[in-house]
Amino acid sequence: MSIKNIALDIDYVRSQFPAFNDPLNSKWSFFENAGGSYVPQNVVDHLNNFMISTKVQPYASYDMSDVAGKNMDKATRYFTEMINAEENEIIIGSSTTMNMYVLSNAMKQLLKPGDEVIVTNQDHEANIGAWRRLKNMGAKIKEWQLNPLTGELEIENLQSLLNSKTKILAVTHCSNIVGSVNDMKHIAQLAHDYGAFVICDGVSYAPHGLPDVKDLDVDFYAFSLYKTYGPHLALLYGKKEILDRLPNQNHEFLEDSIPYTLNPGGPNHEELSSLIGISEYFDNLYNHHFQKKDISRLTKIKKINELIAVHEEKIANKLLEFISSEKKINLIGKSKIENRNRAPTISFTVKGKSSQEVSDALVSQGIALRNDNFYAWRCLKALGIDTEDGVVRSSMVHYNNIEDVDRLISAFTKTDILSH
Ligand SMILES: Cc1ncc(COP(=O)(O)O)c(C=O)c1O
Repeated sequence: MSIKNIALDIDYVRSQFPAFNDPLNSKWSFFENAGGSYVPQNVVDHLNNFMISTKVQPYASYDMSDVAGKNMDKATRYFTEMINAEENEIIIGSSTTMNMYVLSNAMKQLLKPGDEVIVTNQDHEANIGAWRRLKNMGAKIKEWQLNPLTGELEIENLQSLLNSKTKILAVTHCSNIVGSVNDMKHIAQLAHDYGAFVICDGVSYAPHGLPDVKDLDVDFYAFSLYKTYGPHLALLYGKKEILDRLPNQNHEFLEDSIPYTLNPGGPNHEELSSLIGISEYFDNLYNHHFQKKDISRLTKIKKINELIAVHEEKIANKLLEFISSEKKINLIGKSKIENRNRAPTISFTVKGKSSQEVSDALVSQGIALRNDNFYAWRCLKALGIDTEDGVVRSSMVHYNNIEDVDRLISAFTKTDILSH
């Protein structure tokens, strides 16, 4: 059977996430997934098990410690396999913001004054601020600006910024406001033609399908695990040959411990161990929908990604159709998802109403979301939006269902959001 004939079993999906049966959560339709996602039962179980059985310092030879260390390694290995990285190419840190700051601190030592760094104004500040600070060591910062009418980053504008002095290009795979998916493979090719390093923020992309980092061919790829169904941690991938060249950011005597050289303090142990639960959840999801069992973790992820994309496209396009047909709503970004060119992260403002008023009204109808600049304040400024009041952002993932969308649409009509 082709994948086109297999639909995501949404009831099965939701049965894996205990939040949907929790009295506090269950009365809400959850639309703040781009802020952080719910976790499947497997993650909760691994976290609990670690706390009960193995809450000791890992990697000693006694049982509890040995098991703790093995589980932490297993979690790292599973994620390495799922995103097509190689051994010692990923680190698990506390947040993407932290990972980017540590990375930029290491990378600045590969640059000399006059080298050029390109950042965008579409990104979250985590993949802008850390790189902009390189001006302190004499780097020239250039900005790849979005088109203020569409919110999109246009390739022609990048081409006019790249030259032989470009050393770093920092760009988001998917904007957490506009929702557009940027063609990272093409972008990486263009930057590599000039010998630049490509740093990709995948935080808004990864919850909708884990990336194949080798296929994208970016040099670094970052995402936040608390948005991909895990605890508050973040993953940073880096190409081994570049990690080998980066100066150590950890204790002096750990200088050969790549990639921990970029992970001072290390990860939270129990949370790292619980990442096994994400991999198990994806495994279960795969086994629930597909027959063929003897395939790699990466291939399973690719199959799941296709299933998820079809489901997300269906539910998001219904919402996008409603929002783009309402004259009072200013939709940001594309009005339709086609071929995964947009995430179901849908931001908007409403004419004559503050975003605070709109989000308050939606919350009153059981819609869990908020208004904010979501730390993409340069993006909002470029779009001419008040960075304090921000946009209203309704963001979905694959466990959202069509009933959530219907409830959000009817919340507009049950309140005075669209009235004069
Ligand atoms: C696109 C994007 N990049 C980076 C970040 C920062 O991630 P973290 O909270 O892990 O620092 C966020 C957080 O919302 C984000 O949405």
